[in-house]
Amino acid sequence: MSHFLDIHKTDPADLRGMIDNAATMKKSRNGRPKGALDDELPLKDHMVALIFEKPSTRTRVSFDVGVRQMGGQTMLLSGVDMQLGHGETIADTARVLSRYVDLIMIRTFEEQTLLELAEYATVPVINGLTDRTHPCQIMADILTFEEHNGPIKGKKVVWSGDGNNVCASFIHAAGQFGFDLTFTGPETLDPEQGFIDLARSKGVNIEIERNAQKAAEGADLIVTDTWVSMHDPQSARERRHNQLRGYQVNEELMSHAKPDALFMHCLPAHRDEEATSVVMDGPQSVIFDEAENRLHAQKAIMRWCLGR
Ligand code: CP
Ligand code: NVA
Repeated sequence: MSHFLDIHKTDPADLRGMIDNAATMKKSRNGRPKGALDDELPLKDHMVALIFEKPSTRTRVSFDVGVRQMGGQTMLLSGVDMQLGHGETIADTARVLSRYVDLIMIRTFEEQTLLELAEYATVPVINGLTDRTHPCQIMADILTFEEHNGPIKGKKVVWSGDGNNVCASFIHAAGQFGFDLTFTGPETLDPEQGFIDLARSKGVNIEIERNAQKAAEGADLIVTDTWVSMHDPQSARERRHNQLRGYQVNEELMSHAKPDALFMHCLPAHRDEEATSVVMDGPQSVIFDEAENRLHAQKAIMRWCLGR
């Protein structure tokens, strides 16, 4: 069994295998050859716990549907309703859940919660977002990019806006899948230097460019995300908007990228803040493909975790 905690912690060949498997499964609704028997479903007799300490639409529904399509069953658990939210240790929670279920997906605040859960669980643990990273999203995004524009290796991705958890996983993916990434945003919201250094050590070009238009030149993909994440204090909202206004993804910014460049946003979006509706609903946008591909990518991740 293997945990899926982060993209930079997962072997590049395994990551590639998951993307390819996701693409194959996408073609056959239940991730099995046509006509295969129910008994052959990869998650038959498997119970999966889905723990949410933060809100979610895509992660919740795509994991739930994905498990069911593969023959398994799910249990949705909200952090506040569990003893975990009332003082029980993460280690004890991990030990107990491992006696009942075959796989745990958790969306939580501090990365330490995820790491401790993985340390003490005897079943695989999947990172469904922490304050620091969001690897499942970026697996779906790689699948999406390659469906539209071919191999991502050697391409130029531009992240415009807040250097947040989703940005961090994109930087990890740059190192593992071999693409270049330019971050454009204010200095105070830069991604973690350690993540940048790690990706650079794998031979890819990670740049920081304060001028958004310059950053977008020659981009194959422009990505953004909300300016205020779930873990950010709402009191930071006004200041962030002032800092990030110049990094909005709009038609003007897209015009600096390659003509066939794609636009991505993991959603949920604040329309006409981080990106205009014209771009989000425009011909270069693949935001709903990204959302759909959460399902296919995560099915492949779960199978990899369980060795099935
Ligand atoms: N992109 C994403 O993770 O969406 P949810 O917060 O709706 O799960
Ligand atoms: N950066 C966002 C992503 C939501 C899917 C957040 O953490 O709130």
